This record gives sequence, structure tokens and C-alpha cells, in this order.
Amino acid sequence: MPDAEAEARRDGESRSTVYIETYGCQMNLADSELIAGVLTRNGFRTVDDPGRADVVLLNTCAIREHAEQRVAQRVRHLIATRGAGGRVRIGLAGCMAQHHRERLLERIPGLDFVVGPDGYRRLPELLDSGAPDSEVRLDRRETYEGVAPVRGKGVRAWLTIMRGCNRFCTFCVVPYVRGRERSLPADVLVAEAHAIAAQGFREIVLLGQTVNAYHHEDCDFGDLLRRMNGVEGIDRIRFTSPHPADMDESTIEAMRECRKVSPYLHLPVQSGSDRILAAMDRGHTVAEYLDLVARLRRAVPALALSTDIIVGYPGETDDDFQATAALMERVNYDHAFLFKYSKRSGTRAEKLADTVDEDEKGRRLQQLIVAQELRAGRINRGLVGTRAEVLVESSAKRQPGWLAGKDPRFKTVVFEPDAATVGRIAHVRIESAGPHTLLGREVPAV
Ligand code: 5AD
Ligand code: SF4
Repeated sequence: MPDAEAEARRDGESRSTVYIETYGCQMNLADSELIAGVLTRNGFRTVDDPGRADVVLLNTCAIREHAEQRVAQRVRHLIATRGAGGRVRIGLAGCMAQHHRERLLERIPGLDFVVGPDGYRRLPELLDSGAPDSEVRLDRRETYEGVAPVRGKGVRAWLTIMRGCNRFCTFCVVPYVRGRERSLPADVLVAEAHAIAAQGFREIVLLGQTVNAYHHEDCDFGDLLRRMNGVEGIDRIRFTSPHPADMDESTIEAMRECRKVSPYLHLPVQSGSDRILAAMDRGHTVAEYLDLVARLRRAVPALALSTDIIVGYPGETDDDFQATAALMERVNYDHAFLFKYSKRSGTRAEKLADTVDEDEKGRRLQQLIVAQELRAGRINRGLVGTRAEVLVESSAKRQPGWLAGKDPRFKTVVFEPDAATVGRIAHVRIESAGPHTLLGREVPAV
């Protein structure tokens, strides 16, 4: 950019403004911070009201059809109500953008730009172009190294350590819309973690589609956890989402060793039936998963576990489904994300007949929801009378004067404070519990 123009753009009033709305997973939240990074270094300023923006960008999800329908509705509404004499540029970024590519420009009249997960460096160019435009090439080298994300406020920072997925589970669109695995250099990530600590964040969440497949030169995921554990100023380290088949001894050992690594793991299993796991090409059996859980719990006795489950995968019988319900009970998950199977174009499962009808999927989902609520309530009530170290995040929504935060197992704790403040660790005695929340009061540190 010529100096005079750069000068003009540094003047707050003359800069263009961008509003970013994020859908889907934590990877997308982190990508929105990268998008904001790319745009702010090109003279944009972020705003939190679409009505005051020159550019409106929706960072989208493609994982299930429902996620795409929500975005399609929202963007049509934004286009229909576009202000400033129609000059506002409206576009779609992320997984749904990559899934449907240029076709979106035809399907959604008035849409100005479409940009996939590997195209964000080209956003300023797309926005300069006078006509509707797209950048939907996948780039197997793109890691966004060197782009400084614009992070929000709070105690928790996202740090993307790898992008893409090589697994091609039959139901999943991710490998097609995010491309192949690539990891960032460990030195770059550790330097970023120091910067995150210096910005005042207390917790780092390492992100990747198959986060524990991270490897760069001779550094594997376990090594990276050990290095992150040494970053001063950071109290807690979590990561999501690991794949069971990539969960090696180095990682388990690092979880055991590293004081700051949370005793919490989101370990998607998808199904409790070997037949369905094989059909999904998940790369492990139920017995192997259970053995992994046992090894993890031996290494980290306080471990809390959550999972992802899909009900109604093509060919799932009632017996397969009951095996899933039984596995969930056996593992005794603290939390579960439960989904109805949604056919995605381009995936290997696309050609399979959707054999379980929507009502039956709904019934299966409901059975799992009810059982999981009971299970989580039971687990959490077992914590009454214990003490928790809570990283305080905010005021409580419903209890005036109370605070809310997370314990090391990532359970939400709402408590009556004594001297606690947001951004610090409080010691809390748990006095009652429901399936989603622990309630207590602050007590002195021992
Ligand atoms: N239908 C339903 N759920 C899906 N997921 C991924 N693809 C699909 C699909 N086609 C779920 C999986 C994954 C989570 C992120 O979303 O459970 O772990
Ligand atoms: Fe999708 Fe499977 Fe890759 Fe996870 S591991 S992103 S479910 S293909």
C-alpha cells in the first residue's frame, strides 16, 4: 500500500469497517480472528453491528444441512435489508463457502463474495474487486503463519496448531472443505502462546480438526503439550478435537505429566457399534476405544470425558443404536454432543440410502439426551462437598452478585464470591449440582 494511503487509513474515520458473524465450531471462531487480522492490517476496523459496517462477512459451517440452512436464511435477510444505498458488501467465508464454491454467487442473488478457509489472505483483493468474486482454492501449505489474529476479550484464547484432516470419515465434509493436514512450527506456536499470556489470557485452547495428529519436524503433539506447559502466565491448556486413533502414548504421558493440561478430554466416538464404526471408517473398534479410555483414566484419574455421537447413520439398526447407548453408559461421559445424521454432498456416505427416517432419528436422539442428563446429574452430584479451582470468567447470568467460571474439568461453576474477581482462580466449595452446572461458595485457599 502506498504510504499516503496507509497514512489515510490509519486515520480511524477514513477506514472501512467490517462486521464478522461466526457459525459452527471453535476452529471457525479462531478463523474469524485470523480474518479480522488480515483485514485490520489492510486498513479495516471491526465493528459489532452489521448496520454500521461497510463489509458484512458470515464465517460459515457445513457440517450438517441445518447449519447451512441457517446461514442461507441469514444472508438472504442481510441482503434484503442492506443499508447505505446498497453499497455494503456481503459475503460468505468458511466451510459452507468452500462446500458450494462459486455456485453460491448464482444461488444467492446480491451476494458479493465467497471465500474458502484457505483464501483469507486474498480477502482485501476480493473486497476491492467491483464485481462479485470468489477465492475457493484449497492450499495445502496455508497455515496463516505470520497473520496476527485479532482476539476478543476474556480468559480464554484459541490457538490453531494444525489445519485440515486426512481421515475422510465417510459422513464428514471437513476433509473436502478444509483440505489436507498441515501443522505450524512448534517455535512459532510457543512464541504465540507467550504473546497470548502477555495479552492477559489465562487459558489456551489448542485447535485442529484432528488436533492430536499435530506434527512438525520432530515435534509431535505430546512434545507440543510439554512445551506449552512451560509458558509462564498460562494456567490452563486444553485441546480439541483429538481423534481416538491418533491418541498415542506420547500424548497420554504428556497429559499425565503436565500440570497445566486440563483433566478434560473431548474424545468423539460417533457410535458404539463396531459395524457402524467400520462403515464410517473411523479406524478403531469399540474395544480399542474402551482400552484407550482406560489408559487415559489410569494416567489422569480425575479425567472428565465428553464425546460426539451421530444417530441414524445409514444402516444403523436398533441393536446398533442400543450399543451406542450402552457405550455411553459404560464410559460414563460427563457431557455429549448428540447429532442426527445429515447427508452431505461429496462425502463417501452420500450415495448410501438414508435408512433411518427423521422421526426415528429424533426418537433415538431423545433417548440419548435423557440418559445423558441423568448421567451428568449423577456424576456432578458426586462432586458435592469437594473443592474446585475455578477460573472466573464472568458474572453469573441468573444469580445477582454471583460469579461463573470453569473448573479444571471444564465444568461450569456458579458461586457466591468472597474476594474473587474475573480473570483469576477462585477456590470454591461445591454445595449442589445439576447436569450442566455446579453451584457453590468461595472458600479460602488451603
Ligand atoms: N451428520 C451429522 N453429524 C455430523 N458430524 C460430522 N458430520 C456429520 C454429519 N454428516 C458430527 C460428528 C463430528 C461433529 C463435529 O459433528 O459427530 O464429530
Ligand atoms: Fe470429519 Fe473424521 Fe476428519 Fe473429524 S476425523 S474432521 S469426523 S473426517
